[in-house]
Amino acid sequence: MSEQPQVIYLKDYQVPSHIIDSTFLDVHIDDQNTRVICTLQVRKNPLSQAQSHDLLLHGGTLLQLEKACLDGVEMTPARLIKQGTNLLLKDCPEQFEVKTECLIEPQNNTTLEGLYKSGGMFCTQCEAEGFRNITYYMDRPDAMSVFTTRISADKTKYPVLLANGNPIEQGEQAGGCHYAVWHDPFPKPAYLFALVAGDLVRYGDSFTTSSGREVTLHIFVEAHNSHKCAHAMESLKRSMKWDEDVYGREYDLDLFMIVAVDDFNMGAMENKGLNIFNSDCVLADPNTSTDAQFERIEGIVGHEYFHNWSGNRVTCRDWFQLSLKEGFTVFRDAQYTADMYSPTVKRIDDVSLLRTAQFAEDSGPMAHPIRPESYMEINNFYSVTVYEKGAEVVGMIHTLLGADLFRKGSDLYFHRHDGQAVTTEDFVVAMEDASGVDLTRFRNWYSQAGTPTINVRDEYDATQQEYRLYVSQSTPATPESDTKLPFHIPVRMALLQGLDNNASARQGVGNSMAVSWPEQVSAIAADSNEAVLSITEAQQTFVFTGIAARPVPSLLRGFSAPVKLDYPYSNQQLMFLAQHDSDGFNRWEAVQRLLLQALQAVMNEETIGDAVAQPLLDLLSDLLRNEQLDPAMVARLVLLPSEAYLAEMQTEIDVELIHICRESVRCYIAQSLQSELEGCYARCQDDGPFSQSGVAIGHRALKNVCLMYLTTLEDEAHLALAQRQYEKQANMTDVSAALQAMIAMDDDAAAIALENFYSHWHQDAQVVDQWFALQSSANQAGRLEYVKELLRHSAFDIKNPNKVRSVLGGFIRSAINFHAADGSGYAFIAEQVILLNSINPMIAAGLCKPLGRFKKHTPERQVLIREQLQRIIDTNPSKDVYEVVSKALVQ
Ligand code: TRP
Ligand code: ZN
Repeated sequence: MSEQPQVIYLKDYQVPSHIIDSTFLDVHIDDQNTRVICTLQVRKNPLSQAQSHDLLLHGGTLLQLEKACLDGVEMTPARLIKQGTNLLLKDCPEQFEVKTECLIEPQNNTTLEGLYKSGGMFCTQCEAEGFRNITYYMDRPDAMSVFTTRISADKTKYPVLLANGNPIEQGEQAGGCHYAVWHDPFPKPAYLFALVAGDLVRYGDSFTTSSGREVTLHIFVEAHNSHKCAHAMESLKRSMKWDEDVYGREYDLDLFMIVAVDDFNMGAMENKGLNIFNSDCVLADPNTSTDAQFERIEGIVGHEYFHNWSGNRVTCRDWFQLSLKEGFTVFRDAQYTADMYSPTVKRIDDVSLLRTAQFAEDSGPMAHPIRPESYMEINNFYSVTVYEKGAEVVGMIHTLLGADLFRKGSDLYFHRHDGQAVTTEDFVVAMEDASGVDLTRFRNWYSQAGTPTINVRDEYDATQQEYRLYVSQSTPATPESDTKLPFHIPVRMALLQGLDNNASARQGVGNSMAVSWPEQVSAIAADSNEAVLSITEAQQTFVFTGIAARPVPSLLRGFSAPVKLDYPYSNQQLMFLAQHDSDGFNRWEAVQRLLLQALQAVMNEETIGDAVAQPLLDLLSDLLRNEQLDPAMVARLVLLPSEAYLAEMQTEIDVELIHICRESVRCYIAQSLQSELEGCYARCQDDGPFSQSGVAIGHRALKNVCLMYLTTLEDEAHLALAQRQYEKQANMTDVSAALQAMIAMDDDAAAIALENFYSHWHQDAQVVDQWFALQSSANQAGRLEYVKELLRHSAFDIKNPNKVRSVLGGFIRSAINFHAADGSGYAFIAEQVILLNSINPMIAAGLCKPLGRFKKHTPERQVLIREQLQRIIDTNPSKDVYEVVSKALVQ
């Protein structure tokens, strides 16, 4: 990249100048030059204000144009203007046919966008702007067209030829080739196009929709993965049923296909009728996959399937609207997972991610509203903000409307906009129209970045029997704006009957009080003891009358808004909520706050014994001994807040202090509760046949949390415990937890086990990825050389994003190494970014983002990081990397 990249603005949006009624693609796959002939039936868009009769077709750097014809006549250079990499067709008629012929070399395309080769197969990734590297096209999501795709290729090397829609013709052709023609009746933007050619085996099943149509389901994988399809298939069928039951959405084609590919930039892609998945996000087998991977796969299969309505049938007008499909679809897949497993556990896991990754993004140089106003490279905006915060925003609408009105709203949205490319505004309007709820102020969530803090103070007046909540909100400045308008924040809450009560009321302790709610509140569901406070102003007071005794407020239940809650909970109140709150999320939150306070006290040089007080130890002890509780929930309850969360809570991050204090608290808890941890470990040990029931999964999770605590004791007995668990080879969850524990103890035994593990699994790419990640993410100081050694391992491949994510992503997660005081971690990542930039700009830019967030670090670290960012920008990187680095440097 030599000039500064262009900035694209939402305000510049204009409707397409032309409509492409149909697109015929003829792709001849070849190991050297793949030929793409593209025939478009085009007419002027009656809605366009454009004066000229010119048609602009986007083209990428990888296209080699051979020929262009307009209505069958080859175009002269005077009418065929190259504008950068794009093509401008001058003075077109009202209605015409364009036919272009291009050569491409997918085998040399390492960006993994457009048409590329992964292992022995050809596949595509077109979102967001990959299609323009397959052929010249109006590559924008509001240009929708009916696609017919003809693929031809060598019959023996590429026996399977797939594209979107239905197969309509196939046969043999010259030179040992065969062909297949696919037709997709649903008009779609180019980003949803897909094509696959390879030597694949098929795992089949079927699903009968609620209206009685039979849909054929196919999962295509390389032969050696044929035993890893069952879980994804079951997940797919459950997702199809769920979307019918919960959203009234039926599948619309007779065939639904999934293809697994090893080289993939993201998790998966919702191409119409032909989803393409990163192998890691679809293939699973009890011998090689952990419980977490099983759950993740189910969520992603659901996510991509749900896009068929939220994304494909109703798509985005432009890429600023990305959260329209991603936020909504993440919300839908979270609901689905919550319904399949445990809603509380799912919520805890999602909130943990949000509060670390998304809150960090929202306070850094790349902070952006879920509907950004501008971008240089759209790939940089497939972010935790657009996805996870986007899902929170949809979730808040769900909370404000309640489930029934929300469903009315989604029905209206799908009905009103079926077949259209629309905006987040259209989504909000549909929700308003169906519910009658005013979302005027709520729209600020779409246009403003930053994490609001809600400050809550309370007052109880015993004589008036009145309880008041004083609520204010504030949001820090972010790059798009220094000042913020107030958000509409739904705070789900209840008032719990506290302890300082008279004896007669004592039996009601912990119950939520029956409250006559103030006016600004919408009571929800059947349980009128819980309501949603609608905070819409910078400052507000809520008055609750007829309150007989001082209540304990349970605020922000279920984390009903993506905010920081500042309420001065006393230890006593937190202990009370941890034991009594009927909202599972807030019970967890109370324990987290107690643990956080303890950790912060240790960081403030209080002695551990004082900081981790006996009542807290007793609480943890009770949790570990209580056999009535959901073990998956206990596993989360007793876990210390992560280093990333502790960093998020600091104004100036002290990496070492966080690490040392957290480790010492972990060790102190292990010492204090050794027998409880051992008892819990033993009790959760499942010796029967392998099961994937919720209880079995929960037991494994809890047992392995105990193991991690116990191995901080660094003694022979507990090393032996980990070793025994490893040697038992019961299942991948236990094996990798044992390995993780052994690596943390840094013993020779870990090295032996790692070698044993590799020699056993070296042929399974997915397991090797786990093996890499376990080693690179180990959070003990001084592991940089070890990680550099991993890069030289024969199984490492910098062209494969999963390998990069495992090794380099793992390293960045080990904060103590990435942030090593001498800057070696920063220099290492910068080197890798520079290397990756020329291979895969999207992955390089992703790796760069953590370097950008240096503002909260110590001045010494800021200098070290800036040096590395400067070093990267001096190499004149791709616009992907340039955007991330330049925005970081102007902080
Ligand atoms: N739409 C995809 C998803 O659900 C995201 C995606 C997959 C993507 N591959 C990509 C985005 C490549 C950009 C580039 O979630
Ligand atoms: Zn998605």
